[in-house]
Amino acid sequence: MLILETYPKPFSCTEPLVLLCDEDASVHYTDPVLQDRIRIARLQSPACAKSEKTTFLLDTSSDQTLQILLVGLGKSATLDIDRIRNVLGKAIQALIQNHLAEATVVLPEFSGSSFSRADILQAAMEGACLGNYQFSLYKQPENPSLTRIRFWEQPDIVQTFPNLAEKTEIICQGAALARDWVNMPSNDKKPSRLAQQIAEQARAEAIETEILDEQWLQKMQFNTLLAVSAGSSEAPRLVILEYGKRYGTEITALIGKGVTFDSGGLNLKSGESMEDMKIDMAGAAAVSATILTAARLKLPIHLVGAIPLVENMPSGTSTRPGDIVHSHSGKTVEINNTDAEGRLILADTLSYVLKTYHPQICIDLATLTGACMVGLGERIAGLFSSDERLSQALIESGRRTAERCWPMPLPEDYREFLKTETADISNKSSSKWGGAITAALFLSAFVEDTRWAHIDIAGPAYSQKATPICPKGGTGFGVRLLIDYLIRA
Ligand code: BES
Ligand code: ZN
Ligand code: ZN
Repeated sequence: MLILETYPKPFSCTEPLVLLCDEDASVHYTDPVLQDRIRIARLQSPACAKSEKTTFLLDTSSDQTLQILLVGLGKSATLDIDRIRNVLGKAIQALIQNHLAEATVVLPEFSGSSFSRADILQAAMEGACLGNYQFSLYKQPENPSLTRIRFWEQPDIVQTFPNLAEKTEIICQGAALARDWVNMPSNDKKPSRLAQQIAEQARAEAIETEILDEQWLQKMQFNTLLAVSAGSSEAPRLVILEYGKRYGTEITALIGKGVTFDSGGLNLKSGESMEDMKIDMAGAAAVSATILTAARLKLPIHLVGAIPLVENMPSGTSTRPGDIVHSHSGKTVEINNTDAEGRLILADTLSYVLKTYHPQICIDLATLTGACMVGLGERIAGLFSSDERLSQALIESGRRTAERCWPMPLPEDYREFLKTETADISNKSSSKWGGAITAALFLSAFVEDTRWAHIDIAGPAYSQKATPICPKGGTGFGVRLLIDYLIRA
């Protein structure tokens, strides 16, 4: 629970108080009492201002003993919104480790900073909320998350941003939901079950929801999608979410890859590469959570979400390398690698969504290629779009939310690597290089002239290492990015 309240006078606090200090002693607290506490703390523990360092202190200088958590901001010259977010995440994690249930945060002034108080406050609240997340569906965490995080601000700020705490909490809950879905094991999120879970939450927000089943997919000739689910005993689903019809005919479509487990199919992955493949539905999780979040925030926009859900398994009924199928668009596809399955389920979904809803903008999120991780590492997504304005807007939202997107090319001449003599297109590139690019080019063949962006989130969907704002596991990448984009678009 996140609360924004007026700083009380006279000052009194029964729960741990989180204070921030920087190495150059240039960020100040308006309140001379707090400023003095920081000065004393610096004397007691000179290293306390190092970035993300947390120091617990007992302040007995007044009648009321005060527990203080001092968090270092590092050097103030390089201080930015992202550091503030991380520092608050780190603070909350330290409080959790010390079995504390509640905390109050007072942010310093940051005078002279180029960021608005609203941006600083939102980043701090996000860091606190995201840092408070733990995956607890299968095992109680050793130390429970905080039950209340309170921010104290001057009265004018509290009055100017009456809904900021609520809004930030809704956005972070969206990211947490996506994390939960990604962290959930594949035995508990088979396509039919995950579809139901998404639909249940969506209907609770009055989002129009359709779960389309295998028969419908067969009737509608979703044959590239069905080729992926063919090897699994679990039937596929396509979930369609529609929010905000009353906000007009301009539609933004969001599509998320939902492979609930990617074994590779007959092109079976090695044990090691298969290990984390429960995360291969992170695009689906991000898109579903984004639409739920947009509804909870009552954003005045018309959104359509399409979430194809399949399991990619090897068996006697699996698609064989070399098989050719007629996609929903009518194009024939030669499936030369059953492990390049994401592009197959997205191809049918993209062509269906574009033909049915005629969106102005279409964005897909997918854990599509290992090649994208080779290029950009684990923390940056690959952004493919021939629409400069859309691309810039997403990059800017990536900067603001620290869900970074890096622009990647869609070179026309690379299309030749997807050519095959026997079908319109192959799902496997004939070149062993540039796999993220050829995967994006494959998708683009099903998009035609809609303003479209593809975000390859194979890297940032999952974190092998805990960060200040996320434990090891699903990161919820995409929810904060897309919400920021949708709010500002
Ligand atoms: N789901 C994987 C991509 C992936 C890899 C996501 C690592 C997250 C972490 C995707 O379906 C896949 O297997 N891609 C292949 C494509 C290749 C067979 C053309 C890849 O990247 O190796
Ligand atoms: Zn695969
Ligand atoms: Zn995959």
